[in-house]
Amino acid sequence: MHEGRGSSTEPACGRGDVPGHVAVIMDGNGRWAESKGLPRTEGHRQGEATLADVVRAADDLGIAWFTAYGFSTENWTRPKLEVDFILGLHKNIFRRRLEMHRNNVRIRCIGRPVSGTSRLPKRILREMDESIELTKSNTGLNFTLAFDYGSREELVYATRRLLDLHRRGRAEIVEHTFAQCLYEPAMPPVDLLVRTSGEQRLSNFLLWQSVGAPFYVTPTYWPDFDRAELEAAVEWWRTGRHGHLPGEREPEGRT
Ligand code: IPE
Ligand code: IPE
Ligand code: MG
Repeated sequence: MHEGRGSSTEPACGRGDVPGHVAVIMDGNGRWAESKGLPRTEGHRQGEATLADVVRAADDLGIAWFTAYGFSTENWTRPKLEVDFILGLHKNIFRRRLEMHRNNVRIRCIGRPVSGTSRLPKRILREMDESIELTKSNTGLNFTLAFDYGSREELVYATRRLLDLHRRGRAEIVEHTFAQCLYEPAMPPVDLLVRTSGEQRLSNFLLWQSVGAPFYVTPTYWPDFDRAELEAAVEWWRTGRHGHLPGEREPEGRT
């Protein structure tokens, strides 16, 4: 088992004074649509286009890791029509993989698909796998979609894996070996956690990874979030002297 938090295979050095890892809880699609007298699905449709724009903006800003919460393990309780619509839209994100590949973006996913227990339709899992495979050698922005993701399930999954390694005498039970058993061992801690639409909740997102992250909450609904909003969040991080937990090292950036 590797020592240390990350796999240390990521290129070092961030570009400029930007957070190495930005994670976003994309909330407010439904309220955005309702405020315009539109069906909730229109909010999700616009939200998907916003995500593509914000990934480009994160890339341009030189952010090394950008993680977006796309669908939670709790979201399965929504009406079936809405769930199907959201899942269909995420297929669109994976269909943008060629553009991301051209931009040297590495696509990753965290969630139940990693543990093989996802209820996602096979066709979406296929698009996801192809996106991960196509971009696996890229060295630019690490774009991770949390998809059919729940942090509690991730912690249970990591516990099982670590116990298994421990029983076979291959790992001690300590923090850094636990971190290696999470869905994405290479993922550094979150430096800046953003939630749109005003709610101040984690909603089961990255509990382990966000433990020291400053929480930036904007009233803007996700479909209206854009490059300027991301820059404002980064500026807030930059001027706020938001640091790491004692003993945590700076995240590895990218070249
Ligand atoms: C976020 O928007 C999208 C997902 C959770 C998939 P919501 O659908 O939660 O929108 P609100 O919070 O109801 O406005
Ligand atoms: C969080 O938003 C999940 C995603 C953004 C995918 P929700 O709207 O589902 O969260 P709650 O229900 O307000 O906690
Ligand atoms: Mg919501």
